[in-house]
Amino acid sequence: MRAIPQQSSLTGAVLSPSPAIDAMAGHAEVAVPVSAAAVGLFDPQEADLLASRPGRPALLGEAKVPNDGPPTILLDKLGERLAFERAGTRLYDALILKYRAAQRVSADALPPARSVMGSGALLETPVETLERLRAEELDHFTLLCRAIVRLGGDPTRQTPGANVTARACSGFVQVLEDSCTTLAQCLNAMVAIELADNVGWELLARLADESGESDLAREFLAVLLQEEEHLSIVKGWLASVVLDTPNLSVV
Ligand SMILES: [Fe+2]
Repeated sequence: MRAIPQQSSLTGAVLSPSPAIDAMAGHAEVAVPVSAAAVGLFDPQEADLLASRPGRPALLGEAKVPNDGPPTILLDKLGERLAFERAGTRLYDALILKYRAAQRVSADALPPARSVMGSGALLETPVETLERLRAEELDHFTLLCRAIVRLGGDPTRQTPGANVTARACSGFVQVLEDSCTTLAQCLNAMVAIELADNVGWELLARLADESGESDLAREFLAVLLQEEEHLSIVKGWLASVVLDTPNLSVV
């Protein structure tokens, strides 16, 4: 029988791992949180969309999409990115607060962005970088509002994609706004957000181009360049904090 260290927080799974692993594997196999019917494929004949379709305001003049019929995929994806950028702005607000809290423990809680990117000549402090990234997310939000209006849509109406995205982002917002989470845990969440952001803008640019909106596609590709930088920075910061701070309470 193994001796249990004093003041140990070991659980039974550590003391006797095989049964615990078997139990977890079994749970994963049999756990069905909701009915199979509920997670089945969406059937437009049988179910409602998660939100209203992206229609157009009546006073915007000639629009490029009809106000009836199914939602256009471009407007839905624009609404989706709009919801994402709204959440992104809020997430950077929270990350700035989290960074300032970490600074009370360690003044250099994050290195300058230029030191983790491998290139770039930005002479920003970490908080200046965070505030710039936050401002860019807000710029992207504004750009999307303009694009939706230009296509005859209404940026205040929640598209199905926007609804799903808002739900998905709510978990990340909870992580960032939880006073118990560390800076590293928040950066981990931000890496996931920025990865998704990059994929989303890349797809949106392709979709705009294939929809004949070449001007919008060019603007979206310019945004993608900024998002690639965002990902590079938060990824570098995460690695820096995790690798340089072998202290569980901080990481
Ligand atoms: Fe971003």
